[in-house]
Amino acid sequence: MSAGPSPDGQEFRAYVNAREDREILRFITCGSVDDGKSTLIGRLLYESRLVFQDQLARVEADSRRHGTQGDNLDLALLVDGLQAEREQGITIDVAYRTFSTARRSFIAADAPGHEQYTRNMATGASTADLAVVLIDARKGVLPQTCRHTTILSLLGVRRVILAINKMDLVDWSRDVYDGIAATFGDFAKRLDVTDVTCIPVSALTGDNVTGPSAAMDWYDGPPLLQALESADLTTGLQSGPFRMPVQWVNRPNAEFRGFAGTVASGQVHPGDPVLVCPSRKASVVERIVGPDGNLDRAGAGQAVTLTLADEIDVSRGDIIASIAEPPSLSDQFACHIVWMHETPLLPERPYLLKIGTRLAGAQVTAIKHRLNVDNLEHTAAKTLELNDIGYCNIGLDRKIAFDPYRELRETGGFILIDRYTHGTVGAGMIDFGLWRGSNLTPHQLAIDKPARAAQKNQKACVLWLTGLSGAGKSATANAVEKRLHAMGRHSYTLDGDNLRHGLTRDLGFTAADRVENVRRIAEVARLFVDAGLIVLVSVISPFRDERRMAREMMEEGEFIEVFVDCPIEVCEQRDPKGLYRKARAGEIGNFTGVDSPYEPPENPEIVLKTAEQGVDEVADQVVDYLRSRVDVA
Ligand code: ADX
Repeated sequence: MSAGPSPDGQEFRAYVNAREDREILRFITCGSVDDGKSTLIGRLLYESRLVFQDQLARVEADSRRHGTQGDNLDLALLVDGLQAEREQGITIDVAYRTFSTARRSFIAADAPGHEQYTRNMATGASTADLAVVLIDARKGVLPQTCRHTTILSLLGVRRVILAINKMDLVDWSRDVYDGIAATFGDFAKRLDVTDVTCIPVSALTGDNVTGPSAAMDWYDGPPLLQALESADLTTGLQSGPFRMPVQWVNRPNAEFRGFAGTVASGQVHPGDPVLVCPSRKASVVERIVGPDGNLDRAGAGQAVTLTLADEIDVSRGDIIASIAEPPSLSDQFACHIVWMHETPLLPERPYLLKIGTRLAGAQVTAIKHRLNVDNLEHTAAKTLELNDIGYCNIGLDRKIAFDPYRELRETGGFILIDRYTHGTVGAGMIDFGLWRGSNLTPHQLAIDKPARAAQKNQKACVLWLTGLSGAGKSATANAVEKRLHAMGRHSYTLDGDNLRHGLTRDLGFTAADRVENVRRIAEVARLFVDAGLIVLVSVISPFRDERRMAREMMEEGEFIEVFVDCPIEVCEQRDPKGLYRKARAGEIGNFTGVDSPYEPPENPEIVLKTAEQGVDEVADQVVDYLRSRVDVA
């Protein structure tokens, strides 16, 4: 290790600058709570003397306050940056640290070891070239170790350094080391993690961390730092197929139209033939513009602007790619999904998917299985809970360009985003495209919706009645339909209870089943609207996401959300089917309003206060609304 200069002032900046053009190895450290990984990174930082003086001063103070090492410096405090984790004694977020040696620079992601923080580990691993997996020599390979290694493998990290720590506490025993190395090697092989280096270390004493260990002369491999310095860095990105997701279209004036983005893989030169995806329009690269003018080459990791020889349509989210090795196109995939949110993933629920710079609407159409990361077994699952990993089919609302994740992480990995909060709820890795949809061409019907509706002298729409059981949805639907019928309108009612005898009879009342229930009913409603009818839908439809999905399946103005708003106390008192009583008695589970949530509409077109008004009054209110829209009734 090179002893760096004191990390302050000009000398330090020069030192850092001199290292800027050197190779960078990104690695992630994973281990269980007490494995000592923060101490290990702390020691790497400390011994490379790149710890800022002020950080050191703080650690000295903190060591006295929170430290676990008596009067000695607690190196873990260099890494455990967050107040909360210091106080709880656990690491709760991904901490990135950089340091350099004479040979390379490093970016270390410290992923938390606590079981429920799998999501953070997945975040740290998605950009890592290599992982340092820590094991406590006294405990050996734990379920957590297997879990982490499985996630590493899924995220495409095939190189692992197994740091068997706390060797000082097992008398530097070679037998202990050999046993752990063999057990881990077997597990890793099953996961396709073929490049494993085992190193016996003591993060506390520094043995085999930055220099060889006198206490373990039986070990003839490299110390950890040397292993990190010499790890093969050819990630293949520079030699991969050319891909550049378009970040934005730069059009300062009529003469210039450039496509800005960061090269995700491969290289590009002026004159290279390229394909713009997913439109598959071909062109040739004219210029590559960098921050200081034209370039004759750009490679993976570089942010550039490309101009093309032809005036073709290119927009944000497109991928400019090599014509010889183009990406695949599809709107359906088989993929692994790591779920990262407390609200479970539900099949058919609409999410947003972001891949590269492209955003698309997405629904998981099937969960094939859930992966038990402790023993790699597949189990059946209807939903994915926080930290679950599932193998799923996913469908998008448009075709996108992609590569299988195992071939190219940059264009094969995606995140799933909640449509309301815009928070990241999952991360996914595309396995392959599914082609089912691609042989189906929509058949154009000769008689269309306006023709059907005009013949009935009306405009088709859906009145979507949502509300608690017993709120009065069905009674309202009946009363409205009677009025419409008398007015000579053509209508039909889709009633949740009735449909559960046929169309949806295979479904129960779990969140996942309700999502599917509403999806099916919305599909039928869409067909009936297409037939030119005024459709009344009467289902609890407790979740905002699915009501929004139903709305988006219709054309603008066709979906009329009617909130049948009645306090649960009143519904419960009415209890027309005796179900509230049964639910309270624990005889039926997942009952809406009792032990299953109801999310009231945020902006319904109509609100009916059925506790205060009679059924005739609220039915009139709905018909008045329709009348006010001359185009409908
Ligand atoms: S939804 O939640 O999936 O939209 P839907 O409207 O189809 O429900 O069905 C609700 C009807 O099923 C209720 O009117 C009630 O008669 C009956 N039911 C039986 N069990 C439940 C339950 N656990 N939760 C809600 N409704 C139930």
